[in-house]
Amino acid sequence: MSAPSPVEKTIVIVGLGKIGSLYAACYGQAGHRIRTVDIGDGADWERVAQVPDPASVDAWVVATPTATHLAVVDEILRRQPDARVLLEKPACYPEDLDGLGRTVRRHPRARIIVNDVYSHSEAVQRFAASVRELGASDPIRKITVEFTKNREFDVANGRFVDTQYGEAGYEGFHMLSILRAILPAEQYRSYLRTVPSSVTAEMRVRTAAPDLPDVELYTSSTGAIAFPELAGFAFPDKVLKDFIVPSSIPYGSEFRYRFADVELLSGKHVTLVFEPFFGADPGHKNIHAVHVRDAVPEGHFLIAVNHFKEALLTQLDLLRHLDEGTTVVRPAEHRFLAALGSAMFTGTFPQTTENEKYARIGSEA
Ligand SMILES: NC(=O)c1ccc[n+]([C@@H]2O[C@H](COP(=O)([O-])OP(=O)(O)OC[C@H]3O[C@@H](n4cnc5c(N)ncnc54)[C@H](O)[C@@H]3O)[C@@H](O)[C@H]2O)c1
Repeated sequence: MSAPSPVEKTIVIVGLGKIGSLYAACYGQAGHRIRTVDIGDGADWERVAQVPDPASVDAWVVATPTATHLAVVDEILRRQPDARVLLEKPACYPEDLDGLGRTVRRHPRARIIVNDVYSHSEAVQRFAASVRELGASDPIRKITVEFTKNREFDVANGRFVDTQYGEAGYEGFHMLSILRAILPAEQYRSYLRTVPSSVTAEMRVRTAAPDLPDVELYTSSTGAIAFPELAGFAFPDKVLKDFIVPSSIPYGSEFRYRFADVELLSGKHVTLVFEPFFGADPGHKNIHAVHVRDAVPEGHFLIAVNHFKEALLTQLDLLRHLDEGTTVVRPAEHRFLAALGSAMFTGTFPQTTENEKYARIGSEA
């Protein structure tokens, strides 16, 4: 490899599939030198072990299938013990979490961040700031987060099939990122230790616990909308008529119904709606809205941002400045989502002894 200019970084992307290609495009456009590793065709090398001069790599991206993450991270750190690694989410499957912890401890100089698009999203940050401002004098009564899309076409093609985290593995991490942005840190840690009052297969997770607002997380990959009334108002009439009133997104549609709503004790709602201009603006993917309702004056503001791209650039910058040995893997979130996945596969949270087991899972990390 020839030496990069001072601003240009050498980034090795391991796994050049759907997500890895997005990283390559984003970092390439930002002027970085991109090198690729993939066991399939078309990459610079097939294995991490073949990357020459690993000490000259500024950052690694791991975007291989989740089952391979631990082995790939191990291999990277064997070659470059102080590597800076941006790891796709989930960090790994639940059975590898302890192994990942051991890998991190064996490499005290490594810096690892698990990709967390929503926590770096300006839309989420400005929404959370609005909630904090209004919530200072008007406490939060309930938080509802919904991420619904019809992914049956993807599933038919083998994508979005997670045998371990189940439905929780696709949008669960994103929904938790939003919850983490809204709740004070201590309350958020308590939430991860709760046993939900109910978990259904599609998945709907209801939680009512002392000292926490009510929380309901809902995600469907069959397009079944659960809360048309909470964010439907923000979409164009045609979207309302075609998808939201029938509460169903049909097979093959690209429409995503995603929002986070905070209901305050006064009855006011602060609602973040992602991509409300679907069908009305070709740039809809990069425009989001925050509405404050039942308030005088009622208002809303828009945030125009490609939050996937912004998050990748922010996290690359973060990796550059992280102290040696800093990792942001969030094992408690992984364990919480794994427990939800497990509950979904078995129907509901079992009542007695199993509840204790889930409680332990939630409180371990
Ligand atoms: N952040 C998000 O919103 C988001 C969305 C979808 C997927 N993901 C995550 O991204 C990761 C990749 O998903 P994808 O949909 O891009 O998968 P993909 O199947 O499209 O791509 C994976 C690529 O990795 C390659 N590969 C497999 N094993 C390898 C190895 N040991 N070394 C090098 N290359 C290897 C494959 O050949 C393939 O090209 C997964 O962990 C997934 O959970 C994240």
